[in-house]
Amino acid sequence: MKSSTTVYDVFTPTTPAKASFIEREDINDKLVDALRTPGTQIVVYGYSGSGKSTLLRNKLRQLYEHEVTTRCTSASSFDQLMLSAFDDLDAYYISELQAKDTATISASAKTTLASIRSELSVTASSSSENSAKKTRILPPQLTAQNLAKLMGEANCCWVLEDFHKIEESERTKLSQTMKVFMDMADDYRTVKVIAVGAVDSARQVVQYDPEMRTRIAEIHVPLMEPYELQSIINLGTKILKIAFSPSLTNKISHYANGLPAICHTLCLNVCQQNDIYEEASAPITLTAEELEPALKKYLSNSSDTLKMAFEASLKQNRKSKYNHPKLIIHALAQLSQDGATKDEILRKINKVEPSYSSKSFVGGMEKLCKALRTPLVRFDDNSGKYSFIDPLYRSFALALNSEEPKTSFEVNINSLLEVLTKSYNNTRRRHK
Ligand SMILES: Nc1ncnc2c1ncn2[C@@H]1O[C@H](COP(=O)(O)OP(=O)(O)OP(=O)(O)O)[C@@H](O)[C@H]1O
Ligand SMILES: [Mg+2]
Repeated sequence: MKSSTTVYDVFTPTTPAKASFIEREDINDKLVDALRTPGTQIVVYGYSGSGKSTLLRNKLRQLYEHEVTTRCTSASSFDQLMLSAFDDLDAYYISELQAKDTATISASAKTTLASIRSELSVTASSSSENSAKKTRILPPQLTAQNLAKLMGEANCCWVLEDFHKIEESERTKLSQTMKVFMDMADDYRTVKVIAVGAVDSARQVVQYDPEMRTRIAEIHVPLMEPYELQSIINLGTKILKIAFSPSLTNKISHYANGLPAICHTLCLNVCQQNDIYEEASAPITLTAEELEPALKKYLSNSSDTLKMAFEASLKQNRKSKYNHPKLIIHALAQLSQDGATKDEILRKINKVEPSYSSKSFVGGMEKLCKALRTPLVRFDDNSGKYSFIDPLYRSFALALNSEEPKTSFEVNINSLLEVLTKSYNNTRRRHK
């Protein structure tokens, strides 16, 4: 019996979307061209939650039989990443050899595989059984060439997720590996490295030599446009055979603020609060009044993070003439979601405080960007713009701005909701 689609297959706030995956034309083409061009290495970058992993997963599924995905953490060394990729490949070869005609794998690849395996088993048995922390040593045979060869034979590519997290000294090794993979493309057309990082520029993912520039595709995955978020809602609700009114759809896409993960969360909340867990058996249309409880649930789940971030940044120095963080946050929230330049922000501030100087701005901004635990704002070297690190911060800042000045800072979900709604209505009015 075919199991029916559940709401969790459709609205996927924490896993790559599959059923409700929407194509993003501009980036799709760039990514597909880069994937199809032999030898081209790929760097995918952009905001956390903008849809990098989802886009890759879906495109790779269409173009590749198999891929090796290695996840990076701040503790990963490049050697460990190579070992982990080898383990994955090895498991794939074992299952393939059993399932398919063994003749598809060359004798030379089999020899390489066997020699790395045996080196690994020797080092494993010689390491002390009771040593609490076993670090495996990279066998001399497990070189970038051999890894590329084994991947090539298996017609797959290597995805390094969250590559920005690993230490800088380890990160430089990727550029060398990419060079090797480029050279191997003559023999193996599909072989390539795809490094993914939640950062503002490709160079923050990997620093490579200028001569490699033309053979590396840098793919930026921007935040989603409202119409893209609306497509997710329309597709998802269609699969579940339910309908969201246009007003509910617009509101969700507005509050999601460019982030598909928030869009999925709000949709999931709307379904859950109406006991919709699978395809509806009778027509049902949900309207804008569903938004408030869905948003409330979402906000209360994130309120601690928000509170911490804002509390830390808004603490003010009593002696100071200006409340720098407040002025800057206020101004920035009113500017574009993609951020604004120093001049744009300063102009906004000067409307309220005409004598606020460029020097004051620089000092105040530095504090916001460098707040130790939870910086609110970041500066992007490429665009020369400042922006909120998380788009939810912007919504929240908009909400705070319209409140009466308070002596103590607190997050009240109800008042936040109220001001969020107000800010939504204001934006709508401005756009009309
Ligand atoms: N094209 C899309 N269509 C539908 N949903 C999407 C799409 N892209 C992303 N999403 C949804 O948005 C959420 C975040 O996407 P994803 O995990 O791919 O982002 P990311 O850029 O890889 O984030 P991170 O840098 O934090 O790993 C997921 O819940 C996913 O389901
Ligand atoms: Mg990801």
